[in-house]
Amino acid sequence: MVDFSFDVNELFPAEITAVRSDLIPVGYLGNKNHSLIQQQVSAVLDVMGEASAKAQGLKTSITSGAKFRTTDCQQTAYILVDKFGNSGKGSVVGLLKVGRKKLFLLDEVGKPNELVPQCVLDFYVAERRQRSGLGSRLFQHMLIEERADPRYLAVDRPSSKLVSFLRKHYGLVNTIPQVNNYVIFSGFFHDRPQDQCSPVPKKARIYMGKLQYV
Ligand code: ACO
Repeated sequence: MVDFSFDVNELFPAEITAVRSDLIPVGYLGNKNHSLIQQQVSAVLDVMGEASAKAQGLKTSITSGAKFRTTDCQQTAYILVDKFGNSGKGSVVGLLKVGRKKLFLLDEVGKPNELVPQCVLDFYVAERRQRSGLGSRLFQHMLIEERADPRYLAVDRPSSKLVSFLRKHYGLVNTIPQVNNYVIFSGFFHDRPQDQCSPVPKKARIYMGKLQYV
């Protein structure tokens, strides 16, 4: 559990709240000024990002307030709060960051495909609260919000705990070998829905009398 000097319950209105690059929690109901909210959300992302990196044995954090604000791809961080923690001010217990990334991914026969899949980028539940179903609650919430199917996700460098988590909760076991750090599972290319957005907007042009997007 991570406690902060400010009121976590006021900052994050729900048990699981989404935050995007504006650093204003979705559904924020308080009356603090924007820069104070952003400062506090940034502090939460910094602390949770650091804890996640430490848990994964990484030298640098994948998530921080500054990185989150300036990323060029659309990302969402889902923040899980224990509403009863820190004498009723609330404690932050989990972070799950997802976002679309342009990736070259090999299919079952080794053919490269350029896709913009939803990716699991960072995932952390406070040590003392792990293995009690909180990670699953956070992940399930993300799947609903993102209208995502676990088999179509790409996972950035999953830890052994996350590999075990995905096997246990979603039966994801067989991987399709890649040449980058992303892990995808068999079924990733089957009946794959069109990836909804691309980080680079396409330009329209007329070519040979036809409208094309390049
Ligand atoms: N060892 C092995 N498997 C584990 C462990 C562990 N210490 N902890 C959780 N798991 C897996 C197991 O499958 C476990 O089921 P089991 O207890 O029956 O073996 C299952 O997760 C438990 O599910 P939840 O309780 O819903 O998950 P939890 O709240 O523990 O959250 C998470 C899972 C986020 C992976 C958590 O364990 C964690 O924060 N680990 C440290 C950080 C980490 O490795 N994050 C993923 C990095 S990779 C990435 O983010 C792309």
